[in-house]
Amino acid sequence: MDNRSWVIAKRPQGIFQRDDIALEKFELPATGDGQVLVRTIYLSIDPAYRVWMNEADVAYLPPRPIGDQMWGSIVGVVEESRNPSFAKGDIVAGISRQAEYNLSDGNDIMKVPAGLPLEMYYVLYGHVGTTAYFGVELMNPQAGETLVVSSAAGGVGSIAAQIGSIQGCRVVGIAGSDDRCRWLTEELGLAAAINYRTQDVAEQLRHTCPDGIDTYFDNVGGATLDTILLQANRNARIALCGMVSTYNTKQEYEASAVHHLMQAVLKSIKLYGYIVTDFLDRYPEAFEQIRQWADAGKIKGGLTMVDGIEQVPEAIDNLLNSKYFGRVVVRVSEEPAKIVNK
Ligand SMILES: NC(=O)c1ccc[n+]([C@@H]2O[C@H](COP(=O)([O-])OP(=O)(O)OC[C@H]3O[C@@H](n4cnc5c(N)ncnc54)[C@H](OP(=O)(O)O)[C@@H]3O)[C@@H](O)[C@H]2O)c1
Repeated sequence: MDNRSWVIAKRPQGIFQRDDIALEKFELPATGDGQVLVRTIYLSIDPAYRVWMNEADVAYLPPRPIGDQMWGSIVGVVEESRNPSFAKGDIVAGISRQAEYNLSDGNDIMKVPAGLPLEMYYVLYGHVGTTAYFGVELMNPQAGETLVVSSAAGGVGSIAAQIGSIQGCRVVGIAGSDDRCRWLTEELGLAAAINYRTQDVAEQLRHTCPDGIDTYFDNVGGATLDTILLQANRNARIALCGMVSTYNTKQEYEASAVHHLMQAVLKSIKLYGYIVTDFLDRYPEAFEQIRQWADAGKIKGGLTMVDGIEQVPEAIDNLLNSKYFGRVVVRVSEEPAKIVNK
């Protein structure tokens, strides 16, 4: 059976270029004993792809050789199962190849809980909602405190910001365009938003956070993290979720050195680095809580849907250049007419 998949065509030099990856045909072997054949329905587009294309070992995934198929986070339907834990028609999610079909031994996929709207899976749930949920939990924000979120109009950031509001915090977002800043204040109800591309972040933080910063959800690292360390209150808590400002070039990475870490000593600031899979056994709890917030209209998701597996390079490019709102998902094939997950 023919199967198209994105492969690393060349090692990216700096900013992601669309021809760094190529769509190639692979022959898919027959489903073996213990295996499951999954047809991809949705493919989540993540900034981590840029990191996964480097030669570096990122600790939770091995370095990928040139020519290797790209990894991606997918939602799919089981077309054939020779694994007793899965049945034909099950809707599953997991980390797989960025391909039309994947063969899985069942260890890298999980059944999507019944009743979750599939199109919104990667907006509110999946690794996006869970990353936001557990990152906010690590910071233990209290009602009345000030929470700052960077990449606040992105997938993880927009959910983290709204959870902060639900918990009674005054939330200030940082994003890369006026449109995205407007979306944060007008649609998501944040107290203020700062455009880091056109405004002086340090000055704007002083202006929008008159009582200082108690908690910071860091998606970008680098200079923004440094600024926050300087302005954070005593006993502030920072969730180190990601450092997208350092993903593209060696120069960016080197320029991202944090100069004010001593502030963490002087002000007893707690820094919490984490990978969402640290909390894998608590995903059902996060899904349930987020579903309740969403049903109550307390949390909204932004979704940019891009049609066709051929559009993956454009989607990655646009994501990294702040052209989208919220979570970016590529529709690879149609949802089944009837969803059978129980
Ligand atoms: N710890 C974990 O387990 C875990 C799991 C998933 C994701 N993450 C991390 O969470 C963060 C957000 O991920 P996401 O999937 O929700 O992506 P996202 O925030 O939806 O997309 C990335 C956004 O980053 C911003 N950006 C790009 N280049 C930047 C730069 N040089 N400086 C500052 N901002 C830049 C852009 O938005 P603006 O320019 O508008 O801000 C871009 O849209 C990433 O750092 C990711 O690696 C961590």
